[in-house]
Amino acid sequence: MLKISYTFFKLTIPPLLLSVNNNNNFRKRFKQFPFCHHYINDTNAQNPPESLKYFDYSHINSSIQPNQSNQSNFSLDDFIILPNHFTSLEQEFLLDQSLKKFKRILGKKVTYKDGHFDGVIHGYRECQSTHWDDDKKMNEIFNKKIFSLFPENLRWLPVHLLELTNYGGIKAHIDNVEYSGNIVAGVCLMSSIVMRLRHINNPQFYFDALLEPGCLYIQRDSIRYNFTHEIPANPTEHKFKGNIIPKLHRISLMFRNLKE
Ligand code: OGA
Ligand code: MN
Repeated sequence: MLKISYTFFKLTIPPLLLSVNNNNNFRKRFKQFPFCHHYINDTNAQNPPESLKYFDYSHINSSIQPNQSNQSNFSLDDFIILPNHFTSLEQEFLLDQSLKKFKRILGKKVTYKDGHFDGVIHGYRECQSTHWDDDKKMNEIFNKKIFSLFPENLRWLPVHLLELTNYGGIKAHIDNVEYSGNIVAGVCLMSSIVMRLRHINNPQFYFDALLEPGCLYIQRDSIRYNFTHEIPANPTEHKFKGNIIPKLHRISLMFRNLKE
């Protein structure tokens, strides 16, 4: 049984149920309680939420606790996956717009950076964007599918586009805390990846998330600050619940709010 200590708000509302069918429900709650944390006992629920299929919590257990400190508190609710959040047409459109953006900013010749030996990320290219080939349609999708999930007063940094090759990977890190606020949301395109989130006080205390194309995932608050995230580059380590997930080319669009 999961037992998670936390010192944030405690709400007596049912566990978040995240699935394709009740995204609206989620939206309402998330908007209503954007910064509240609540106890998650989904693993004990009679009908585990759809989104649990995408998590492997087998290394989050009481025998390997994060070392006690002010930073050890967390709620697993602070990592959210909305599977199939974008339709196939939307995914195709986002991909086309992203590739156009890469071409415009980085040129026609496609080259990937290997990163330095100690670099966090390798086998990739990246850029930022505030304007798109089709601004109107892009903003429509972003407003409807991303920004509307969050409080209106958030200010968003330019969208970060990241393309990872099939040999690319990201080492364990926490996103910049100086400029970027409590929310990091990612749109996943092209292929599935496994993301591993480790507690900053104990790397053996971790969980995995399977991020399929078309999903939106959100790291917020305690998971955003108290867990690192990584994507294994080695295809044999790219596993979810013991099964290898083929490592293929992938593009993500990252949305981060400005630190206030
Ligand atoms: C990052 C990162 C994850 C992703 O760019 O900092 O962790 O889903 N990206 O691409
Ligand atoms: Mn990151």
